Amino acid sequence: MMPIRFPCTPATRKLAVLGISIPALFSTMAASRSAQSSSTSPTDKAPTPSSPIHPYPPRHKAFPYTPRDFLRRDESDDTDFYTQPRFVTHIDDNAIRLLREYYAVNLPRKGRILDLCSSWISHFPKELEELAIVGKDEGQETGLEVVGLGMNKKELAANPILKISILQNLNVDPTIPASLFPLDATACVVSIDYLTKPLDVLSSLLQHTRTGGSVHLIISNRCFPTKAVGRWLRVSEEERLRMVGDYLWFSGWRNIEIVEVCDGRGQAPRLMGMFGGGVDPLWVVRGVKVVGKEVGKEVGEGRSEL
Ligand SMILES: C[S@@+](CC[C@H](N)C(=O)[O-])C[C@H]1O[C@@H](n2cnc3c(N)ncnc32)[C@H](O)[C@@H]1O
Repeated sequence: MMPIRFPCTPATRKLAVLGISIPALFSTMAASRSAQSSSTSPTDKAPTPSSPIHPYPPRHKAFPYTPRDFLRRDESDDTDFYTQPRFVTHIDDNAIRLLREYYAVNLPRKGRILDLCSSWISHFPKELEELAIVGKDEGQETGLEVVGLGMNKKELAANPILKISILQNLNVDPTIPASLFPLDATACVVSIDYLTKPLDVLSSLLQHTRTGGSVHLIISNRCFPTKAVGRWLRVSEEERLRMVGDYLWFSGWRNIEIVEVCDGRGQAPRLMGMFGGGVDPLWVVRGVKVVGKEVGKEVGEGRSEL
């Protein structure tokens, strides 16, 4: 089963019809940026030159979401839903290309990167892929290690860049294994909408990340609607981005930004020079660990490392 677009009419396009651009919308947010720490941005590097960056303004005094917001249409065990491997891509080729470009600029070349909600493909740029693959071999120290945490054993086993694979249902156990400390960066591609305990997961991630490390939550507009949290399906795309910003803020991440990698308004190239169909939009909601407590190096319990 492939994820479907949800909603079918992206808000970006509705706004374009109204003559309002997302950048214009977000510019009103800039004023409240001062509420955040003024130290580094997620990697201290610019994103791809054409990607507008919008600061996330904290807008609530307390975490505003209720248990109902995290109810899903299908509350059966996620393990059953993800039993069958899906060797498909969940975003289109244009979005994958742009994501690779984003990663090339924004992910570290050394240290440990976690691909959270990982599958058979991590969309890393060639240079990082090569470092990770060579680094998997014993005695070939490249200084880069990629860890994948996901739900399907066959998908994780097929991912060539993962040095360590962890099968873990984050909706049952939202704690990042302590053995993964220290993380330098985490990416989570089109999956944050499936997590019913995002604060627990992201707080734990923060604890396991070294100071200055970053988290990059990549968002598009396709999903498995029965498994996405209820509020995700009820609100607009802009509100989803703010909601994910709220997740990061209330779990302690700072310097939160929303990067508009692709507004989804382009046309996908088709055969014989024709253009048809839209392209997938792509945003990154990201944050930095600026200060705080880090976990020790105790070994995690209750998860299976493949
Ligand atoms: C749409 S797929 C995206 C996979 C991958 N990030 C990619 O871009 O190809 C959603 C992923 O979220 C992961 N996922 C969903 N629910 C999860 C849960 N409860 N715990 C851990 N991972 C989960 C699944 O393993 C699945 O691979």
